[in-house]
Amino acid sequence: MKVLVALFVVALVDVVTSQCACKTMKWANCDDSCSCSLTLTESSTQTLNCSKLVPKCFLMQAEMYRACNHQDTRSGGKPVETAFVDNDGIYDPVCESDGKFKAVQCNNTEVCWCVNSAGVRRSDKKDKNIKCEPAETYWVRVEMKHKSVDVPIDATKLRTGIENVLQQRYGLDKKLVSEVQYDKDGRLIVVDVKKDKDDRTTDLSLMTYYMEKDIKVLPLFWNGQPFEVDVPGTKVSMENVLIYYVDDRAPTFTMQKLTGGIIAVIVVVSLIVIGGFLVLFFLARRQKAQYSKAQAREMETIS
Ligand SMILES: *[C@@H]1O[C@H](CO)[C@@H](O)[C@H](O)[C@H]1NC(C)=O
Ligand SMILES: *[C@@H]1O[C@H](CO)[C@@H](O)[C@H](O)[C@H]1NC(C)=O
Repeated sequence: MKVLVALFVVALVDVVTSQCACKTMKWANCDDSCSCSLTLTESSTQTLNCSKLVPKCFLMQAEMYRACNHQDTRSGGKPVETAFVDNDGIYDPVCESDGKFKAVQCNNTEVCWCVNSAGVRRSDKKDKNIKCEPAETYWVRVEMKHKSVDVPIDATKLRTGIENVLQQRYGLDKKLVSEVQYDKDGRLIVVDVKKDKDDRTTDLSLMTYYMEKDIKVLPLFWNGQPFEVDVPGTKVSMENVLIYYVDDRAPTFTMQKLTGGIIAVIVVVSLIVIGGFLVLFFLARRQKAQYSKAQAREMETIS
């Protein structure tokens, strides 16, 4: 009997502790009262609401902390593409108390740069006197390559499946999925997620960070369930993901400034050339008109 009771108690304790796991963050520590927190630095922890995704800025801090303490982070994959992609990898960010990124980031060094609301660098690296304007990421393009499947995938059903998984996994409002393009032969799925430019409550970086981990490394979710898109007849899993960020103001990389400058020069030169032609054209017309008027007058005087 005693053994049975003991077993029962053990089972009960088991159930209780498993109830106290943090659904949205596998690295969280949860106490007996199911309050969960995440260690961010040597001296700070963040209490979590485990029914919500954890802000990316906190996650990056936790990841740096774990990396420095030789705990598993499995954050190997660095994005490879250029363009406006996060190819800096991880840094130790400074966060606001609500988990938003400060606009200036320095990675604990004298070298600083500007980041957008998703914490992605949007300027050249400068010294610590750099001035940064806040920039909100209002549009992200998620490019995924899916693993091969046995059955052909219908684009419309794929879109529905993607909207569902984004809502279920990341709590994304389906209305924000503005476009889904599918290239069957390239196995490429392009998902545009756009919010209102003035919207400061939706944070698109929540979804993108969890998604990058889901596809490139390992899920951050406690249950570790893989990212899969349900379409009729099969589940589609992803091979890779690439994320483009679009902010409410253009980034200020030197390269883009240069191309912008060149475009401006080209525009100015073309305007001058077109303007010149127009002036010539009108001058010619006026001369012709004056000529014919003069002719008409001559005719009048003759007659
Ligand atoms: C946690 O987040 C959920 C969903 O947004 C919210 O309903 C709930 O009140 C939050 N809990 C706490 C303790 O803040
Ligand atoms: C930030 O610093 C860490 C270690 O100090 C380094 O590994 C990482 O590459 C740096 N990240 C950036 C974006 O400079």
